[in-house]
Amino acid sequence: MIGNIIVKSNYEEMSHYAASVVAGIIRLKPDCVLGLPTGSTPIGMYKELIRMHQTEGLDFSGVTTFNLDEYVGLGLDLNKPYTKDQSYARFMWEEFFRHVSLRKENALIPDGRAKDLVKECHYYESRIKQAGGIDLQILGIGTDGHIGFNEPSSPFSSRTRVEDLHAQTIADNYEKFFKPAGFAKGQVPKRAVSMGIATVLEAKQIMLLASGQEKSDVVFKALSGPIMEEMPASVLQLFPEKIRIVTDQTAASRMVKYTE
Ligand code: GLP
Repeated sequence: MIGNIIVKSNYEEMSHYAASVVAGIIRLKPDCVLGLPTGSTPIGMYKELIRMHQTEGLDFSGVTTFNLDEYVGLGLDLNKPYTKDQSYARFMWEEFFRHVSLRKENALIPDGRAKDLVKECHYYESRIKQAGGIDLQILGIGTDGHIGFNEPSSPFSSRTRVEDLHAQTIADNYEKFFKPAGFAKGQVPKRAVSMGIATVLEAKQIMLLASGQEKSDVVFKALSGPIMEEMPASVLQLFPEKIRIVTDQTAASRMVKYTE
């Protein structure tokens, strides 16, 4: 089991703690490189980072960010962020980028609309290398243990590539994001471009966030069960020295007894 698990009493405290880790790294290294996730879990962390930018002067102008993934067929030009779609680029623009001092040219997201997706994946990898690698990679976790869009059975050696999404992931994404926005089930993309597991593991530090009862089983299995490709997040157990798991009480309920 990974020792570095920080359990907070609720979602808000988890989010504030996660934001403090990010802010600490930015203050220590103003030109740091961050790996960013989408999903409902990191929204509270983004909100707190926006507050820190607005009221404490936390400055993102030297920071470079790489998002984990994007749906095939979707994407957004951050210089003209007008189209309404469910791309992760739009999510990042609305929830975070447009509120802070991050430069648009330093906010990188795989382009799911690229004609040549293989080339786009290679280009993305080369941009990460060019930036000197990722200082802090932040992750969420899917109910089936996926990280980014590395679905169960993704090779641990995988790099940025196009991945077919599993039925459970498509169903989760429909319920959380597409249905509330009025989209039909059939409109949820079935493929995505995702950083690979090996790409993620090259980050100097990794912070995984998990919140809510629906994550308690997967957190337990991923962090204390066997390390196997069927459970992508279990690979994190191989790197205890650079992994920090931050959860709320409910997500950790099968792992530890909460004492604070
Ligand atoms: C999507 C994203 C993942 C994210 C997961 C969990 O599949 N590609 O990066 O971790 O959803 O989302 P949520 O935080 O909404 O539970």
